[in-house]
Amino acid sequence: MSGRRGSGLENELFGITFANPVLLAAGTCGFGEELSDVVELDRLGGFVTKSVTLEPRGGNPAPRVTEFRAGMLNSIGLANPGARDVLRTKLPWLRDRIRRARVIISVAGHSASEYAEVIGILDPGEGFEGFEVNLSCPNDTRLGGLPFALDPDAAARVIEAVRPRTQRPLIAKLAPNTPDFGPVIRRLEAAGVDGFTLVNTMPGLVLDPESGRPVLGAGPGGVSGPALRAIGVHAVWRAAEYTALPLIGVGGIAEGEDAEQYLMAGASLVQIGTASFWDPRTAERVLKGVERAVTRRPGGLGTLVGLARRSGAAQQPDAPAEAAVENHV
Ligand SMILES: Cc1cc2nc3c(=O)[nH]c(=O)nc-3n(C[C@H](O)[C@H](O)[C@H](O)COP(=O)(O)O)c2cc1C
Repeated sequence: MSGRRGSGLENELFGITFANPVLLAAGTCGFGEELSDVVELDRLGGFVTKSVTLEPRGGNPAPRVTEFRAGMLNSIGLANPGARDVLRTKLPWLRDRIRRARVIISVAGHSASEYAEVIGILDPGEGFEGFEVNLSCPNDTRLGGLPFALDPDAAARVIEAVRPRTQRPLIAKLAPNTPDFGPVIRRLEAAGVDGFTLVNTMPGLVLDPESGRPVLGAGPGGVSGPALRAIGVHAVWRAAEYTALPLIGVGGIAEGEDAEQYLMAGASLVQIGTASFWDPRTAERVLKGVERAVTRRPGGLGTLVGLARRSGAAQQPDAPAEAAVENHV
């Protein structure tokens, strides 16, 4: 079945062999155990856990999720059991039960030192390959800071703080509303990341037309699902202009051809989030679609990755934003 040796779907990135390029996205598959009855995790390339913070977090007030025609809005508030509990109770399950899927632990925090502490606690554990650093958390909420991902200096301080704490791959997860990926990518690359995941959810708001109040308990939230797909594909395509490090594409993938767009834009792996809530078998369906697309093209996955960029359609890295708009809208 998909991902066997010689299937053309294998991919070695960050020194890790992924049996195929389809992963589940952070926050949409818990720590694996929660989904293991409905999804055969070892058929996938891997999955990313819920973001882990230093202390346990209960999350935001309900309702935390709502749907609209083009997607989903969530404000979960990074509910998770905290780094020490994850080390004690979640990592042993992953070590004992996951054989082939590659597990990436997502980490989050309110300060560079909190990220470093979380990684310091988890790194000695077993059952996972690397860390995805969720940079969409506000840089100290008490000060009303921007999310790290939108502040290249603050984001670089996070990576500089965590890099000495682990030899494992560090993948930085970026935000879709980044005005220009160049500065943040350059700073994070210099600070020692091994790759990038694009994109996290986009800030959004759904109002109740009767009351005029936000539907979510926390007010605004993050948009995911189909509304995010073209934004995510564009983000990967732009990011590929600035870095040769591996890229992971995520946002609105529900079918094989959605994943193909991300791969063609320059992603080497893809992740699936919201669509698995609607149908837990989405990842397997996407994988079959990618497998068909790879089989159609001699040369395996490598021929698909970056195809759109090789076709000469890409902008120059420093092309002014107006030019991009003129050419693409
Ligand atoms: C309910 C929910 C919870 C999420 N939790 C996290 C999280 O803990 N950490 C993170 O980096 N991203 C989180 N995300 C963002 C997803 O990993 C993904 O980047 C985003 O949803 C876009 O992909 P999708 O359109 O396939 O859902 C969450 C998304 C949803 C819908």
